[in-house]
Amino acid sequence: MSNYEPKPEDRFSFGLWTVGNVGRDPFGEPTRAPLDPCDTVRRLGELGAYGVSMHDNDLVPFGSSAEETSRIVARFKVALAESGVRVTMATTNLFTHPIFKDGGFTSNDPAVRRFAVQKAMRSIDLAAELEAPVYVFWGGREGSEVGAAKRVQDALDRYKEAIDFLSGYVLDRGYGMRFAIEPKPNEPRGDIFLATVGHALAFVEQLEHSEMVGVNPEVAHETIAGLNFCHAVAQALWVGKLFHIDLNSQRIGRFDQDLRFGQEGLKDAFLLVRLLEESGYDGARHFDAHALRVEDAAGVEDFARGCMRTYLILAEKARSFAADARVAEALPAA
Ligand code: GCO
Ligand code: MN
Ligand code: MN
Repeated sequence: MSNYEPKPEDRFSFGLWTVGNVGRDPFGEPTRAPLDPCDTVRRLGELGAYGVSMHDNDLVPFGSSAEETSRIVARFKVALAESGVRVTMATTNLFTHPIFKDGGFTSNDPAVRRFAVQKAMRSIDLAAELEAPVYVFWGGREGSEVGAAKRVQDALDRYKEAIDFLSGYVLDRGYGMRFAIEPKPNEPRGDIFLATVGHALAFVEQLEHSEMVGVNPEVAHETIAGLNFCHAVAQALWVGKLFHIDLNSQRIGRFDQDLRFGQEGLKDAFLLVRLLEESGYDGARHFDAHALRVEDAAGVEDFARGCMRTYLILAEKARSFAADARVAEALPAA
C-alpha cells in the first residue's frame, strides 16, 4: 500500500489547456480565470507532475511579434528550469482561428493549407527549442459537414502532403522529435478525417517517413465512437506506434467530455493502466482532461491530483491482480 503521491518517475503530464481550462462551453462563458503558463508549470511541479504539453498558442498568443515571442518563451524556460518540469509534447492549434473554419491541412483553399503548414513549422521550431520529444497532430477542423463539399481521397492526399513535408522539415533540421496523430470521430466537425486509431494507423503506413509517425490515442475519442479503447491502444502497441497517450474519461453517446481520468468507466481504466504498465510503454502518462465547469481554482488542483492518484491506485491494483494466485490460475486456463 503506497500513499499514492505522484513522483516525476511516474511520468505524469498535463496540457496547459487542461489545468488552464476556463470552463467555457458552446453555451456558456468561462467560469474560471485564465492561468499564467509559468505559474501552471510551477504548480504542476509541486504536485509531482513530470511534464507539461502545449499548443503553440497556449503559450504564445496568435499574432505575437518575434520580440514578444522570445520574451514569452524565455520566461517560460525559466519556469521549466526552476520547477524541473519538462515539455513532453507540443502541438499546433489549427482549429481556433476563423481562417481554419474549413480545415487546415485539408482546407479546400490552398492559401489556408500553406498557412497551416507554415504555422506548424514555426510551432515545430518552438517544440524543438523546448525539447519536446513528441509532436502531436490533432486535426479537429480536418473534416466536413457537407458530404459533397470535400472529396475524402483529396483531403487525405493533402493531409499526407502536409505530414510528409513537415517530417522532412524535422529531418532536415536535425530535430529529434517524433510525430503522433490523434484521432477523433467528430467535434468540432460533424465528421473528422482519421476518425479512429484504426484509421490513423492505416494512414501512417502511407506516409513517406512512416517510421517517425505514430498515434496519440485519447480515451474520450474512441469512446465517443463506441469503441474499446484498450483494443485500440493494444493494436497501436502491437505495431510499435504508441508514441503518446491522452488519458481522460467519457461516456458513450455524449459530446467530448474530457472528464477526469477514472471518473467514468473504472473497469476500463483499470484494464488500460494494466495494459500500459505491463507493455513497457515509457512515454508520458498524459492527462487531456478538464476539471468540471463548477470547479474553482482549488477544485482544479484537486482534479489534477485526482487524475494522478487514480492512475497510481489502478497501477497498484494491476500489480496485485498479476500477483493474485486465483488470477495466476485462471489466466492460463482462459
Ligand atoms: C480534444 C482533443 C484536444 C487535443 C489537443 C492536442 O479534446 O478534442 O483531445 O484536446 O488533444 O488539442 O492536439
Ligand atoms: Mn486529446
Ligand atoms: Mn477530447
